[in-house]
Amino acid sequence: MSKTATLQIDGKKYDFPIIKGTENELGIDIKALRGGTGGVITIDPGYKNTGSCESAITYLDGEEGILRYRGYSIEDLAEKADFLETAYLLIFGELPTTEQLQKFDKDIKAESHVDEEMKKILDGFPKSAHPMGVLSSLTSALIAFNPESVDVDSEEAMYEAIVMLMGKFPVLVSWALRKKQGYALDYGDDSLGYVENITKMMFKRPNQQYVKNQIVVDALDKLLILHADHEQNCSTSTVRIVGSSHAGLFASISAGISALWGPLHGGANQAVIEMLEAIKADGGDTAKYINKAKDKEDPFRLMGFGHRVYKNFDPRAKIIKVAAEEILADLDMEDPVLDIAKGLAEVALKDEYFVKRKLYPNVDFYSGIIYRALGIPTEMFTVMFAMGRLPGWIAQWREMRLRKEPIGRPRQIYIGENHREFKTVEKR
Ligand code: CMC
Repeated sequence: MSKTATLQIDGKKYDFPIIKGTENELGIDIKALRGGTGGVITIDPGYKNTGSCESAITYLDGEEGILRYRGYSIEDLAEKADFLETAYLLIFGELPTTEQLQKFDKDIKAESHVDEEMKKILDGFPKSAHPMGVLSSLTSALIAFNPESVDVDSEEAMYEAIVMLMGKFPVLVSWALRKKQGYALDYGDDSLGYVENITKMMFKRPNQQYVKNQIVVDALDKLLILHADHEQNCSTSTVRIVGSSHAGLFASISAGISALWGPLHGGANQAVIEMLEAIKADGGDTAKYINKAKDKEDPFRLMGFGHRVYKNFDPRAKIIKVAAEEILADLDMEDPVLDIAKGLAEVALKDEYFVKRKLYPNVDFYSGIIYRALGIPTEMFTVMFAMGRLPGWIAQWREMRLRKEPIGRPRQIYIGENHREFKTVEKR
């Protein structure tokens, strides 16, 4: 295999090194392109062919349907690990020993309170506010109460910012929900595990004792692990690029939450349930909606289908489909939209349009059915995705800072007007 790629422009040849990843992925290193060629750049809208970094966190092979965090398969982690140890693995690179995990847990718990004045900010939002907007704003507002989290160059200072955010974020997630529901804002209980604490803060009614529901805790733990990282997607790239200006961890994550919100990204989990409900209300005619998705004149897309990277089954969707069936059975519930989802998937997976474009169900296709069974309102689904993605975002931000990556600043090809003479308003 050649170690260089040659580019020819106007008869002149330029060599660029080819770099190889640990899974034999190849990339043409064009760092010297612009300088060496006198200003030539590459154009790649949507970055479909552009590697923005080298990363040791997550490996995914979209053709084979493989996803691994730090070398461990998503199937193993979803079955055998818990969310907190998965977070540790993603952020620090290794599965923690008992002592390391206990220390991480203790340090996070020491930060699991939020300044009471943050409640005033939350008060300012109307109850109708989308919880993703609330979460992004509150995450950004945390900076004002913890200014020391911004200027973090050393590993120690980064660690402090990380445990601060891991501690405070679940409080903000639960407040976003409780605001919607009109419940008094609650804090966690340091005697509980990380994920159990999230369920306590979210679901405990003001007038009732908290009672643990192991099925709910386990289901949420699994969903959070499945969402914990997915290499350089839209929100993660946002976190890295905002962090590259040294804006600080909380500002970077707040921007990542905004990026995740969109229906083409994390917002798809809300959009899927809304779509399934609409199909149900319309008589459950799945064929009609498959045809709408195929019609290029119709803006409708089959939400929860297709992926920029997976051109095979999304391994997370496989796990979630089984989990959704198990959880509904464990909770002794039925959800007619699960049948609609399965019906849609069955038809789409055999339909030439979807087969030809390699469109498979993605992670969001079934996750909403589980969230709903756990009693989480639809508008909160993407917030739960953000809760799961938090350690991945943190890991990517930390890696970017430790590798001392330069500020992110793409180039462009200008296609606007050439120089024009300015005319005063009366002469236009
Ligand atoms: N329904 C119908 N057609 C689709 C769909 C869909 N869900 N997804 C892609 N296509 C078609 C698209 O119209 C295009 O057709 P053609 O080649 O004839 O123009 C072809 O498939 C390729 O699509 P693309 O939009 O160029 O692919 P992309 O890599 O830019 O987009 C995607 C990937 C996920 C944005 C897209 O598949 C989509 O919009 N899916 C629905 C939204 C969704 O479920 N998003 C969640 C992604 S997974 C969670 C996450 O990581 O955020």
